[in-house]
Amino acid sequence: MSTAAIIPAAGLGLRLGGEAPKAFREVGGESLLVHAVRGLKAATAADLACFVIAVPAGSEDIVLKLLEPYCEGASLQIVAGGSERTDSVRAALDLVPVDGIDCVLVHDAARSFVPPEVIDRVVAAVRSGAPAVVPVIPVTDTIKRVDQDGRVVDTPDRRALVAVQTPQGFEPSLLRRAHAGDVAGATDDAMLCERLGVTVQTVEGSEDAFKVTRPRDLLLAEWLLAERHR
Ligand code: CTP
Ligand code: MG
Repeated sequence: MSTAAIIPAAGLGLRLGGEAPKAFREVGGESLLVHAVRGLKAATAADLACFVIAVPAGSEDIVLKLLEPYCEGASLQIVAGGSERTDSVRAALDLVPVDGIDCVLVHDAARSFVPPEVIDRVVAAVRSGAPAVVPVIPVTDTIKRVDQDGRVVDTPDRRALVAVQTPQGFEPSLLRRAHAGDVAGATDDAMLCERLGVTVQTVEGSEDAFKVTRPRDLLLAEWLLAERHR
């Protein structure tokens, strides 16, 4: 049995700005998407046999050529993403083989620098029987709930809050069931499993798995890459 990785990379990166879609923006001379794929490949215990990558429509052929050298020993399929992240994940999930896969990872291209040990922890937890697994880190800000007029409703106990990262790992049939249901408003895949009443397990994430979202995140990414190559 082996693992399949779905990489939603079809977003436009509006908060990042710039000419190209976010997954094609470069850090250290390589695109965020290449960094993300290389990171997944580096998680050797995960035993990745299959990559399915959702990209902006029209860029499928270019991405296939770009990524082939990084996916040796695994199958690689590229699909056009949809208008929402869940649409992109679902389009990719449709191409994940049903046989021989015991874990499906869903990993944002924008979390391009996740360390291999985080990926391995997620896969190990799925293989130990957790049907849905997310990497998390503590939140450092105080989080408040506010109403529509900007008034504070309450302040949840920070010790009970975590920030959620990717890759998220799933038992394959659960992920298919989750995406067959109502996906409206879902900001991650674990949320869809929660809607089915499934308990989602957390494992330790990493600050390095931050999501490149705004321009300053590119600076952080450049710094992180330089540190790793020092
Ligand atoms: N994504 C996707 N399809 C979409 C929207 C997002 O595949 N329709 C992917 C992005 O490419 C990214 C991940 O989902 O790898 C997380 O999304 P986000 O960080 O929000 O990226 P964008 O949607 O591209 O950025 P923005 O929201 O700023 O436009
Ligand atoms: Mg987005």
